[in-house]
Amino acid sequence: MLVAPSILSADFGNLGAEVKAICDSGCDLVHVDVMDGHFVPNLTIGPVVVEAVEKASTKPLDIHLMVENNRFFVDLFAPVKPKYISFHIEEEKHPHRLIQKIRDYGISPAIALNPHRGLEDLEYLIDELDMILLMSVNPGFGGQKFLPLVLDKVRRLKELIVKKGANTLIEVDGGVSDKNIAKLKDAGVDIVVAGSYIYKSSDYQKAIESLKV
Ligand code: DX5
Ligand code: ZN
Repeated sequence: MLVAPSILSADFGNLGAEVKAICDSGCDLVHVDVMDGHFVPNLTIGPVVVEAVEKASTKPLDIHLMVENNRFFVDLFAPVKPKYISFHIEEEKHPHRLIQKIRDYGISPAIALNPHRGLEDLEYLIDELDMILLMSVNPGFGGQKFLPLVLDKVRRLKELIVKKGANTLIEVDGGVSDKNIAKLKDAGVDIVVAGSYIYKSSDYQKAIESLKV
């Protein structure tokens, strides 16, 4: 299991040190939650802060856009050269075009799905995607309760990916901890995002290790 700590639950007064700490504690990616106050009822960080995060990080960035104007934000964050940019399909009229745009920047494209959203729209996109992010909480805040409905969705998505012969990875985001990691692994998840579980723990290394099942 790859582990992507979400910096949303970090101490923002010491952000550089908090990013270094998770990188030194064995994480695989650094998950960056970008919220615009429109798509979700919360507002987080822009390119100035994300550039600082990138400088402090020794691991690739995984940018999760929770915004209305995806194209604008892709252009804004592409210069930071993240490994992944994921955008929400609920907010995109032309997902296929946006996937190409992200790939043209040399970035791996990913689509994110809210908890209520089915997999139907992905049928013709799976081949084009390097990752699919399934939300296991309603997007907007860290520290929410894990929604077990995602487990069935992971299993179905895995089947679709295998059927297509694609290499698309499955990422789950929200409420992940040592309490649900075995079930997530069993369902077929490749990458977990964890914010509060890691950053609220007293030992980041131990917390990250406990998710590497
Ligand atoms: C929620 C974000 C998540 C969040 C995860 O909108 O996308 O990445 O920070 O935080 P936890 O692990 O605390 O649910
Ligand atoms: Zn996220």
